[in-house]
Amino acid sequence: MTTYITTPIYYVNAQPHLGHAYTTVVADTYSRFKRLCGERVRFQTGTDEHGDKIVKAAEAEDVEPRSYVDRISAMFRDTWPLLEVQADHFIRTTDPAHVEVVRLILQKVYDRGDIYFDEYSGLYCRGCERYLTEKELVDGNCPDHLTPPQEIAEKNYFFRMSRYQQRLIDHINANPEFITPERYRNEVLAFLAEPLADLCISRPKSRLTWGIELPFDDNFVTYVWFDALINYLTGIGYPQGPDFDEFWGAAEHLIAKDILKPHAIYWPTMLMAMDVPLYKKLHVHGYWNVDDTKMSKSLGNVVRPRELVEAFGVDTLRYFLLREMSFGLDASFGSETIVARQNADLANDLGNLFSRATAMVWKYRDGCTPQPDSSAADDTLARAAEAMLVEYRQAMVDFRFHQGLQAVWELVGIANKYIVNNAPWVLAKEPDQAGRLDTVLYNLLETLRLLALVLRPVMPGAAAKMAAALGYGEDDPAVSLLAEGGRWGLAAAGRKLSAIPALFPRLEVAKSAASTAADSKGGSKADPAPAGEQGVIEFSQFQKVALRVAEVVAVEPVKNSHKLLKITVAAPEPRVIVAGIAEDYSAEELRGRQVLIVANLKPAKIMGISSQGMILVARTVVDGREKMVLLGPAAKVAPGSIVS
Ligand code: MSP
Repeated sequence: MTTYITTPIYYVNAQPHLGHAYTTVVADTYSRFKRLCGERVRFQTGTDEHGDKIVKAAEAEDVEPRSYVDRISAMFRDTWPLLEVQADHFIRTTDPAHVEVVRLILQKVYDRGDIYFDEYSGLYCRGCERYLTEKELVDGNCPDHLTPPQEIAEKNYFFRMSRYQQRLIDHINANPEFITPERYRNEVLAFLAEPLADLCISRPKSRLTWGIELPFDDNFVTYVWFDALINYLTGIGYPQGPDFDEFWGAAEHLIAKDILKPHAIYWPTMLMAMDVPLYKKLHVHGYWNVDDTKMSKSLGNVVRPRELVEAFGVDTLRYFLLREMSFGLDASFGSETIVARQNADLANDLGNLFSRATAMVWKYRDGCTPQPDSSAADDTLARAAEAMLVEYRQAMVDFRFHQGLQAVWELVGIANKYIVNNAPWVLAKEPDQAGRLDTVLYNLLETLRLLALVLRPVMPGAAAKMAAALGYGEDDPAVSLLAEGGRWGLAAAGRKLSAIPALFPRLEVAKSAASTAADSKGGSKADPAPAGEQGVIEFSQFQKVALRVAEVVAVEPVKNSHKLLKITVAAPEPRVIVAGIAEDYSAEELRGRQVLIVANLKPAKIMGISSQGMILVARTVVDGREKMVLLGPAAKVAPGSIVS
């Protein structure tokens, strides 16, 4: 059996963040699981490096696209080992081999008559790098970028996607597992219920040169999606070669919902036009938000994988990502939730089970796996473990990782109860219970072996430590999910345990990723502060502060306070901020005025009122008294405008 699992190739206009980390960790977990089952696996990730967006990003840094893409692509490549992600191939769309095959494919599809030249006018969104339909617009804006698309009329090449619409509908209907979870399959079918337009697949060089030149017209470069999707083939050596022959039939693509359309519609129709069999499965997951807010650069709440690993450790992070998100739905990231999972699931439930059980084997049996006594047998743990294995395997194959882990933790709970119910410390005091104690300890050790086994794809480091402590080497058949290893009863009597490792320390303080990053980066390693300042911060830390222009719409006094005012501002949504400026400003002076606020400050209760942000002032001294002077834009701007 073989598996070929891919992640999207990430745009190099942004640095790796939590969202990229999630997809890549899922793909890694799946590939480790399949390897553990004895399959031949190919796991591919990489970077998407052509197109308008990338040129803009390079321009913003005042560098050539080539050196820009090299730098950011390397950042992605260097991030994955921190997350214990082991991909077999990292593809870049600027790789010469990829470029060559994209051109070959374009020529093939052109020769078949599936690409034609036509004039087109439409509404183009630069952010999406595609034409939008009127229907997609929200208040005249692109729904993703919230900016109006530009009206563009130009001659371009088109791929006859419409020709394959019915074949695609038939394929999806005949293969319920082609797109999962089902909600996304339904979404695609609903989209296909309307006539499918042909796909514009070129950009005139007058507008964009950073792309793959069309083989049949050097005045144009290839549309970035037509180029990018083909990575899934070029990465395994298409049009021919042993890897292509072995892996293409087993291709499973993993993406988030944002790029469903290119993967579920463009890509299969492209494959049909190329006469290449369709991929096997498309797995679609939801979006990570941060504290229930969309992650975005402008809000300054982008979470970086490196900071998370530094704060929580890679095993905890991987476990959290897979356990917390119901695959297919959105999830919210918060450092409190990750700390809670570490303390409850890992330190308390799993860590305690492991240390209590192994400590008893050391104490009562000198660290040797005992022979269970058949006259004192019980199958509580054997049955629970077998049930877990069945549910776990199915859940992993179905991309229901959260449920797979739930099943694992059910077994952890049962094993913890088993210790309490059987009280080995009491059995140890009764000489005629020696056989029963052997059985209880054996059952616990065998449960731990299976736990270390099923956790290996999710937490490779911690699971390897667990297996080593139980006395299993790396290649022991007992640590494979292949036939005998994945069944109850393989632990052999006499196997010597090793020292018990510290697995999951309890985290005492709820550290936020941001504060941890600040802790670790400040202090002596940083450059000295500019004269007169107390400490430097990284630019990335400053970027986390969301500064906005807000307009005062209402002002009320705060009961029992001379200094405080309850100020309602529009930024552009209304919010209440309690500010201590009553001695310097009257309600009349404030109404209609534009001020600067910190918009992403954690809300605080002040005199019983929830204050959502902070108004910025300059502090000065007039006649020996401190006075506050409001800050604002030099000219009126739209409320909510970003300050940077
Ligand atoms: N370059 C294209 C993909 C081409 S694939 C042939 C692209 N790149 S991207 O950098 O924008 O990456 C999008 C992918 O990153 C998502 O599909 C998902 O895998 C991951 N995520 C980005 N933000 C995410 C969240 N907030 N939450 C979860 N995953 C997200 O699109």
